[in-house]
Amino acid sequence: MAQRVALITGGGKRIGAATVSLLMDNGWFVFIHVRNSIAEAEEVLNVFEQQNSSKAPAEILQADLNSDEELEALIQTVRSHHIVQKNGGLHALIHNASIYSSQDYESVSLENLRLNNRLHIEVPFRLTQGLLSPLREGQGCVIGMIDTSLGRAWKGLSQYTSSKAGLRQLMMNLAGDLAPEIRVNCVAPGAILAADWESEHFASVVEKVPLGRVGEPIDVAKAIHFLLESTYLSGQIINVDGGWSVSP
Ligand SMILES: NC(=O)c1ccc[n+]([C@@H]2O[C@H](COP(=O)([O-])OP(=O)(O)OC[C@H]3O[C@@H](n4cnc5c(N)ncnc54)[C@H](OP(=O)(O)O)[C@@H]3O)[C@@H](O)[C@H]2O)c1
Repeated sequence: MAQRVALITGGGKRIGAATVSLLMDNGWFVFIHVRNSIAEAEEVLNVFEQQNSSKAPAEILQADLNSDEELEALIQTVRSHHIVQKNGGLHALIHNASIYSSQDYESVSLENLRLNNRLHIEVPFRLTQGLLSPLREGQGCVIGMIDTSLGRAWKGLSQYTSSKAGLRQLMMNLAGDLAPEIRVNCVAPGAILAADWESEHFASVVEKVPLGRVGEPIDVAKAIHFLLESTYLSGQIINVDGGWSVSP
């Protein structure tokens, strides 16, 4: 019987890894894209194999998405992969890879701005475009991982929030362009896992979250899985934020 096949970028650790585990637990085959986190991705597969006494339904694919050559090689690898051909295409593409760092607006370099735009807009644009054929064949779902910043001023993060707004709009536009074969949605995590540099800021955010606690990576993974399973949902954004986006 055909198995559903997913590709997730930046899937080696944190929210990406939780999503990989949940998809494998639900019978998916997962291409886990990583840049540096090979050991972390291997550990995710080890845990699955120990718990299930069977080989993990996954393959790790390495690429620095800041490189045009490596991005194109990733596209070709997935397009021509026997798992994709055998199982009737690609059923999910999750744009999860991201960078996130705070800097005073005045000191943000053009290089840093371009890196944010590259990872959050150009890569999802080109990766989706390059995988259209297997996505159409699999009646797939594309998910953009954004956040809850739209319409708000997050200090020192303009390079990040503006590029995530671009990803959000790209996904909404593609929900129209790629219908009816391909569905496109977004998941917008709130305060889930702090970056190393923001633990103080993170604590102050949590005070504003109506549910009074941070979320877990599995909470985000469940929203991704829900969208993949919900075949009449397209053009939707699920905030996984404990109500933060509606708090005053
Ligand atoms: N954490 C949160 O609370 C939160 C809140 C709001 C939104 N989000 C969004 O949810 C998603 C997952 O969050 P996260 O915190 O788990 O993500 P993350 O740890 O910040 O980043 C995920 C992965 O992106 C990969 N990446 C970075 N630069 C790359 C490059 N040049 N080429 C290829 N891969 C690259 C890294 O892979 P390697 O490790 O393999 O190098 C990294 O592990 C992100 O899109 C994020 O913006 C998260």
